[in-house]
Amino acid sequence: MLLQNPVPYSRSSIQRGRVLYVHHCPICHGADGKALIELVANATDLTAPARWRYGTSDGEIFRSIRDGAGVDMPPYATYIKNEDDLWHLVNFIRSIGPESMRPELVPEEGGALAEEARGPGEDRAQSVADP
Ligand code: HEC
Repeated sequence: MLLQNPVPYSRSSIQRGRVLYVHHCPICHGADGKALIELVANATDLTAPARWRYGTSDGEIFRSIRDGAGVDMPPYATYIKNEDDLWHLVNFIRSIGPESMRPELVPEEGGALAEEARGPGEDRAQSVADP
């Protein structure tokens, strides 16, 4: 069955996916998704879908994360129970992949213009956090 991504590719979805990624994935795939050579597992470079083995559609990425891939990629269904969270991860992986494969960014509901006027929330949080 073909799985369709129900979560819009928006800045907040990518941000949520980034938080989940940082929590669960860098130990094998590296902080930037490129799976550095010195890491223990021979994990996939998530920024280079041309070299993936289990499919590059949103539904196939979703399945790789939920059910695992091959022998060494653990299934995340038991750790990440909320399906939307799995889709946020899919959206995050899209955001670090080749530009030609990225969906069009969907403006946030109600907040697109305000968001643009004050710049990315990420940068703002950063400057507030700086001493
Ligand atoms: C224990 C190490 C480990 C962790 C943690 C891990 N992965 Fe993986 N992952 C792998 C390995 C190894 C492969 C390659 C499996 C293969 O090619 O047979 C892989 C493959 C994948 C693939 C499939 C790529 C393809 O070839 O189609 C995706 C997508 C993926 N990982 C995403 C993630 C995400 C997202 C997380 C965090 C939620 C994560 N992985 C956490 C080790 C890991």
